[in-house]
Amino acid sequence: MNKYFLFMSSPYDNFAKYYDGWFIGPFLKAHHKQAIKFIAPYIKENSSVLDVGCGTGAFLKQLVKRSRPSTRDFGELSRTAQAKGLKVFGIDASAGMIKRCQKKKIPNANFQIAQAEDIPFPNDSFDLITCVDSLYHLNPEKFFAECHRALKPGGLVFLDTISVDHCKIFTKLSIFFTRFFQAWQKAKYLKFQEIKSIAKATGFNIIKSQAKSFPLAPYYKTWLIVLQK
Ligand SMILES: C[S@@+](CC[C@H](N)C(=O)[O-])C[C@H]1O[C@@H](n2cnc3c(N)ncnc32)[C@H](O)[C@@H]1O
Repeated sequence: MNKYFLFMSSPYDNFAKYYDGWFIGPFLKAHHKQAIKFIAPYIKENSSVLDVGCGTGAFLKQLVKRSRPSTRDFGELSRTAQAKGLKVFGIDASAGMIKRCQKKKIPNANFQIAQAEDIPFPNDSFDLITCVDSLYHLNPEKFFAECHRALKPGGLVFLDTISVDHCKIFTKLSIFFTRFFQAWQKAKYLKFQEIKSIAKATGFNIIKSQAKSFPLAPYYKTWLIVLQK
């Protein structure tokens, strides 16, 4: 089957092998880099990090490995991620995406197929749970409740999710366009106030939030939000 047709007509499983490629790859890298810069100050020594809806593991790969000391942006991360012994885990509902994660052979990383609404780890397991570009696929109430359960006391959730509060016409058009892709047909995009009220009802405090332009696609904005248990 033509790979572009496959991309439009399939759930994530079937186009996982194209996900990191030219179509999404450059946007993904720049986007992840921005997210990592934002959360680097919150990453403590020997942290356990779970990435939910981890896709092909591209975000965790950058989190752990992309730490060239010469790169100003990642100077802080190089001291946290590599020198400070991060242990990272990723879960994703798609077997195809998890297979791509495993192929990356990221040091100190474990991946498994699982639902965000049923995180397969005991209570108080993680210092940080990240969720990058996946929140709109999830049941947010169940996901936040699971994060609260699986986080250690004082643990953090980092959310990076497209803003429907900004650039309204362009964002609406883009969402309309993504409805032609099977993977995004049921996506539900939350406003900041909706995220905030679900987070508060679950027992989280918002400790930082900022709407940032999407790198390489500045017409979009994305919310970068840190919640604390
Ligand atoms: C747009 S991709 C983002 C992947 C990755 N976080 C990134 O930044 O590249 C969304 C991911 O969410 C996953 N996903 C969708 N629903 C899920 C669920 N209920 N539980 C876990 N993962 C889910 C999909 O399989 C897909 O890999």
